Amino acid sequence: MPGDLRYVESFSPGQGYLPARASQARGSLRLSLDGIWKFRFCPGLPDLTAGFEAVDFDDAHFDDITVPSVWQLAGGPGPPRYSPPAYTNVTYPFPVDPPHVPDRNPAGEYRRHFTLPPGRQFGGSTVVRFDGVDSCFALFVNGAAVGHSKGSRLIREFDVTHLVTPGDNVIAVRVHQWSAGSYLEDQDMWWLSGIFRSVTIINEPPGAIRDFFVRADYDAGQGTGILRVGTDVPARLSVPELGIAAEVGPGADTGHRVAAEPWSDEHPRLYSAVLTSRGGDIAFRVGFRRIEVTGGRIRLNGRTVQFRGVNRHEWHPETGRSLDEATMRADIFLMKQHNINAVRTSHYPPDPRFLGLCDEYGLLVIDECDLETHGFALANWRGNPSDDPRWRPAYLDRIERTVERDKNHPSVIMWSLGNESGTGGNLEKMAEWIRGRDPSRLIHYEGEHDAFYADVYSRMYTGHDELDAIGRRQEAGTADSQHDERRRALPMILCEYGHAMGNGPGGLAEYQALFDRHPRLHGGFIWEWIDHGITQVTAAGERYFGYGGDFGEPVHDGNFVIDGLVFPDRTPSPGLLEAKAVFAPVRITIDPGARRITVENRHHTVGTGAYRFSWTVEDGGMLVAEGELRVPAVPAGSTGRVPFPPALPAAGAAGSEAERWLTVTAALDADTPWAAAGHEIAFAQAQLAQPAPRRDTSPPRGTRSRQGPPGCAVLDPDTGELRRLGPFAVHSAAPDFWRAPTDNDVWTVGAWRRAGLDRLQQRVIAVERGEDELRTRLRIAPAGADFGFLATLTWTSASLLDVHVAPGGSWPCPLPKIGLRLVLDAAIEDVSWFGRGPGEAYRDTHLATRVGRFSAPVSSLATPYVRPQENGNRRHARSLTLSADPGRSLVVTGYPHFDFTVRRWSPELLTAARHTPDLVPDGRTYVHLDAAHHGIGSGSCGPRTLPGHTLMAHTVAWTLSFST
Ligand code: GAL
Repeated sequence: MPGDLRYVESFSPGQGYLPARASQARGSLRLSLDGIWKFRFCPGLPDLTAGFEAVDFDDAHFDDITVPSVWQLAGGPGPPRYSPPAYTNVTYPFPVDPPHVPDRNPAGEYRRHFTLPPGRQFGGSTVVRFDGVDSCFALFVNGAAVGHSKGSRLIREFDVTHLVTPGDNVIAVRVHQWSAGSYLEDQDMWWLSGIFRSVTIINEPPGAIRDFFVRADYDAGQGTGILRVGTDVPARLSVPELGIAAEVGPGADTGHRVAAEPWSDEHPRLYSAVLTSRGGDIAFRVGFRRIEVTGGRIRLNGRTVQFRGVNRHEWHPETGRSLDEATMRADIFLMKQHNINAVRTSHYPPDPRFLGLCDEYGLLVIDECDLETHGFALANWRGNPSDDPRWRPAYLDRIERTVERDKNHPSVIMWSLGNESGTGGNLEKMAEWIRGRDPSRLIHYEGEHDAFYADVYSRMYTGHDELDAIGRRQEAGTADSQHDERRRALPMILCEYGHAMGNGPGGLAEYQALFDRHPRLHGGFIWEWIDHGITQVTAAGERYFGYGGDFGEPVHDGNFVIDGLVFPDRTPSPGLLEAKAVFAPVRITIDPGARRITVENRHHTVGTGAYRFSWTVEDGGMLVAEGELRVPAVPAGSTGRVPFPPALPAAGAAGSEAERWLTVTAALDADTPWAAAGHEIAFAQAQLAQPAPRRDTSPPRGTRSRQGPPGCAVLDPDTGELRRLGPFAVHSAAPDFWRAPTDNDVWTVGAWRRAGLDRLQQRVIAVERGEDELRTRLRIAPAGADFGFLATLTWTSASLLDVHVAPGGSWPCPLPKIGLRLVLDAAIEDVSWFGRGPGEAYRDTHLATRVGRFSAPVSSLATPYVRPQENGNRRHARSLTLSADPGRSLVVTGYPHFDFTVRRWSPELLTAARHTPDLVPDGRTYVHLDAAHHGIGSGSCGPRTLPGHTLMAHTVAWTLSFST
């Protein structure tokens, strides 16, 4: 076994490295070592290659690997070439025996050559920079040991001046999957290893600036920026646009007060600056801004801010935590397009380039340290490193590397000590260190609820009631009463809420209402941005996304890692669209009675000048008029009102036989870097007129017939069974109460199954033939229970169906839904409808949908949740047309409306499926015409579905008519 490997299990953060510094520090020459390296995978410490670091070591038998990458995803999609990925949330996948890790500790041996040019430019010092290596590594250059390091998602630099030569050099890196550092990196995510961020050789000529600290404050009262720049060597600072040209250096920089525009997420104004020293230039950008808590409120440049945020892990379904810049930019553009203004970098500092992009495009950032010890919670926090002095150097090393690396980014407004690491002296020391080094930002830490080392009171997944109490400053006291007064005065954020696992989250609007009601509440950060699914391919070549347990992990947390607002491939999920609607920075309301439109500008800084407002009027979903809406610029935080434009048709105009809806939208007036002109920011709708006469109260009754009901519906007169609807043979039609449980149904699904809602049995009580109707009375109930439902289906000759469902006995739990399941022996290809659309919606997730006329192929109605579950509901349809091959269609009309889902597979298959390829069409079409649904909520991690969205068993009646 090669050398001394004690560093792997030592408490120490590393050895032989340089002090941390700003990521923008450049040196004069940079040589990227990204690309192909030689690589050997070793399953455990006994398998390491002795002497692999030697210059003349023959690595011909090593594999090739790309740097940056994680080795668990090498060779994918497909069977892992080396060790498989593994997912756990809280549980450590190794015995909790700190600082020790198992002997079967996979390692990767990396080697490559690099060439330094001859000549004088390689005077000064030469540094190797690693942007991220998971979880521990040792570095060798030209055969010599340089040092070792832990702290996976932070930069580590080593001075190798004395080891390199002009011409050919050899760098060798031994990376260990597990180390003492793994105890501090128990974030809820895949365990992945390797050199997963860039590696660079930096040459620093004599006199080069090693580090610099930009403090760009903004005085809102004076409207001035105050720039202070510190450097470790004398240098010249120039900011041409501001007329700044000054000498700076290690001594006191008294600061430059200049008339400057402030930086904010809404107006990310940056000024180009250059530092020139004897050793070269560093170009960087300055954003003036002040973040502070005054009067119990969080203020940016003097204005109160509300975070409409998300938690972002770095994720790509094929490359894991190695992201290219295009992917980072895609995340930011998608966030901006969906009205997101803030990011928490859960739960580690992101690739440093991401923060530069946040500066540029405008996102507020909580920069979180690479720290989580959640697994100790399973042992009641016994032995938690956060309170063990032996770990203190590691804790301080991590926060120093975070702050030093990212200190020059205006977008970073809070430092977060880490996530779910309990409490303890080491965390307190981290906070103390930050206060000494960078008092210009706020300190965040959620894991200590008395908040005595933080500047904001932060919580996660707090239920609406408790949040309301916190908003009123009426919450329960602190654990230690001496902290109570201080905490009660602090502003509050939800650093995580709205668990976006699978279908959902629901209840966002209710959270937003609390944020808006209580000035103490400053919004929050939805958990989370992206599903961490891993691309997989079936034997038949179908792509899908894998999750925990798909890679043979003995301990795992299944699909709890699939909880994002975007799918693994970054397709927005319905949850993101809902968040966009809830987060809208302008809120439009329409008062048809007063013929007035109100525009509330919810921005903290910018006016509404960037938006173009317009309106449309549709009758039954058909455009009848449209126009621009002139809204005088509404300043940030203000409300403007405008009358309906004269061209807007009057309510209930003559001839309107359909519902008349007015839609008002706010869209970007000009291109921005993240969206083109015309991109919609917000919309509102109001109904101007009901159809006249109101058909929804008097459905058409058919003509009398002694044969039972003919028309579009063909029934068996003896059994009452539906045989045909227009052109389509009917396999079955029956009341339906089941939905494939969503992840957020976790609180109720046990009760549903115990009650037997997934195995109901049916008994025909009676088939009654009237003169022009056929009535079937049914009892539907689970085995072993004396409760159930009594349902009556009444068909009349015009193919009109009255459905009446009443609970029989007392139901012990809420119901998934109350509806009608129609199984057609036909493959429906397309649907069109008038109702809410175009997307999926449920009772607590419909704000992104609007009333209109829509059409879609059946294949696109399903939302491809990574773990299949209830999806695809369209809400409040007034009418629905189901079409198969040319000329075969069926129209369903609701009185007044119904929810529908159209699928090629049964709810039973959907319930059993684990991955999307399990959903195999069976030739039939499952059409659900529903009266009511249980809300979606965010119970997979958070409160139960709100009482107002809970579907209790009750009597429901609805009417449908069928025609061709
Ligand atoms: C939080 C945690 C997150 C994630 C989430 C559930 O407790 O901070 O990392 O695990 O719960 O998805």
